[in-house]
Amino acid sequence: MSRTREEVVTAICQAYDRDRSRLLDIARDVREQLGCVDSQAVDRISEELSIPRVEVEGLVSFYSFLHSEPQGQVRIRLCNDVPDMMKGTARIATELEEELGIQVGETTPDGKFSLEYASCIGLSDQAPAALVNDLMVPRLGPGTARRGVQILKERGELKELNRILIRDYGDGNNAHDLVRSACSNNIRRAGEVILAEMERGAALEKALAMSPVEVIREIKTSRLRGRGGAGFPTGMKWEFTRAAEGDRRYLICNADEGEPGTFKDRVILTERADLLFEGMTVGGYAIGAEEGLVYLRAEYAYLRDFLEHILAERRGLGLLGASVCGKAGFDFDIRIQMGAGAYICGEETALISSCEGLRGDPKNRPPFPAQEGYLGQPTSVNNVETLCCVARVLEKGSGWFSAIGSPGSTGTKLLSISGDCMRPGVYEVPFGIRLREVFEMCDAEDPMAAQVGGPSGKMVGEADFDRTICFDDLATGGSLMVFGRDRDVLEIASQFLQFFIHESCGYCTPCRVGNVLLKERLDRILAGFGEPADLDYLRQLGDSIKMASRCGLGQTSPNPVLSTLENFRAAYEERLSDRVEGERSGFDIQSALSPAQELTGRKSIHFEES
Ligand SMILES: Cc1cc2nc3c(=O)[nH]c(=O)nc-3n(C[C@H](O)[C@H](O)[C@H](O)COP(=O)(O)O)c2cc1C
Ligand code: SF4
Repeated sequence: MSRTREEVVTAICQAYDRDRSRLLDIARDVREQLGCVDSQAVDRISEELSIPRVEVEGLVSFYSFLHSEPQGQVRIRLCNDVPDMMKGTARIATELEEELGIQVGETTPDGKFSLEYASCIGLSDQAPAALVNDLMVPRLGPGTARRGVQILKERGELKELNRILIRDYGDGNNAHDLVRSACSNNIRRAGEVILAEMERGAALEKALAMSPVEVIREIKTSRLRGRGGAGFPTGMKWEFTRAAEGDRRYLICNADEGEPGTFKDRVILTERADLLFEGMTVGGYAIGAEEGLVYLRAEYAYLRDFLEHILAERRGLGLLGASVCGKAGFDFDIRIQMGAGAYICGEETALISSCEGLRGDPKNRPPFPAQEGYLGQPTSVNNVETLCCVARVLEKGSGWFSAIGSPGSTGTKLLSISGDCMRPGVYEVPFGIRLREVFEMCDAEDPMAAQVGGPSGKMVGEADFDRTICFDDLATGGSLMVFGRDRDVLEIASQFLQFFIHESCGYCTPCRVGNVLLKERLDRILAGFGEPADLDYLRQLGDSIKMASRCGLGQTSPNPVLSTLENFRAAYEERLSDRVEGERSGFDIQSALSPAQELTGRKSIHFEES
């Protein structure tokens, strides 16, 4: 006998022991089994978990992978980040709209398909790309999207789509039975830290022969700095976490990888998951944690079964679980926490909220996560690549590690390179490499600009091509987009701003409103209605947003405008209209009134046609 919708929700809540902190998982499962988290489901969840209804509703409305209305059975999310747009997303969108008979943002009347844009799905080197339910569909050439929809209409077999469409799985573990993905790793250059071969347990064995304090000292001596963007010294973060008062401690691996143009963590998770789990276990030992969480972005759900399989293998080998490697008193295990689609959840305090089953709202600091993090306990949040470096430092020694790279930025860095170059993909390079060398490596012919560090980073031009990639010069969490001479830097800055407007959590006014104003003024210049005073306005407003925003998203969101203003001022100046300064030339009252005139069928008496 089939169960009612309410019974399904109750069973899901029971499976999570009605634990309020697992609300995100509960909502994800409800969406998966019932198609959406509708009003009835919200009521039932709030009853089962004894929490106010508004908390459930607030969570569902926050995440893009959750929804209260049914979506198409096949949900097509077409990636519209800048590298994808450069490679023809608009053409693919038109193809899909024609084939499906709907516009982007709509669902077909039979409820089978919905079509929407997604910010960045982690495939900028294989653009244009789409996410179809949980399936990654890379390299959409002319006609492929249309054919994909036709296949789905005829056979309805989503699992087989890539096999029919692309005919082959990707390289390495992309072809593993538990992955079966058409994504490629595109590893163009493997270095000695992350992408070198590893031996399971080698790092852990060395770590467990030391005391936790000695492990932290080894990491400090290596001068390892976090790869998630801010470059905070990992050893110091662990020292704070270990020293903080708490009943339990947690280590969270940040695998949210939402910065547009970044995809290196996807490749690590596919090819070096063992190295990551080894690093997490070393971290757990060092800070005194019993539990580690991997916060995996929803777009990478296709890797989940594979990652669970590796975790199970490690448990089988005694590398996880009770008395890890036979070390009495050291129990440690790892759980995968799925995200649900929100860029802001990459920010560590928002990520912790999300792991706690809350909306991904950033929190005020202090207290820092090391003092009061997940479930109020001392928590270390570390990036995927950072934790891989940790394992390598233990395996090969801090001296070996710190001899690579530059004095202030030791080790290697994985770059995710996309845009106008012949060889986009993942490159493991020593810190200190010059940007010009990077262009040579990826075959970027005569580049005009590079966006270093994703939209929240900087756009640099020719004058900066001899600068180096490292924390003290051009810092990047991994994203590096190359732009050729025919690209419009203002158009790119405008698209980046749109991304931040879309992803702002809305809590503070400078970020929520300021970025909209910034984009309006930039777009006016783009449309040819700008005037010289607008450049000062952009700079002042950008500076204010940076200064007054609560978290890293708002504090970096004006960077696309500020860095293009600094490095490509001529591109702005040549767009400015030569009207007299002070004349509000961008506002055309007649065209602003025309929709109202059309609706009412009346013309304004103030603007008679001449
Ligand atoms: C808006 C925003 C998004 C972020 N996204 C990520 C991310 O996807 N992955 C990541 O490791 N760090 C991200 N960070 C940085 C984290 O807050 C945090 O500093 C990092 O995970 C710490 O790891 P690390 O010390 O290894 O660098 C983001 C920060 C901000 C402000
Ligand atoms: S800066 Fe933006 S994303 Fe951060 S808390 Fe404020 S509104 Fe939210």
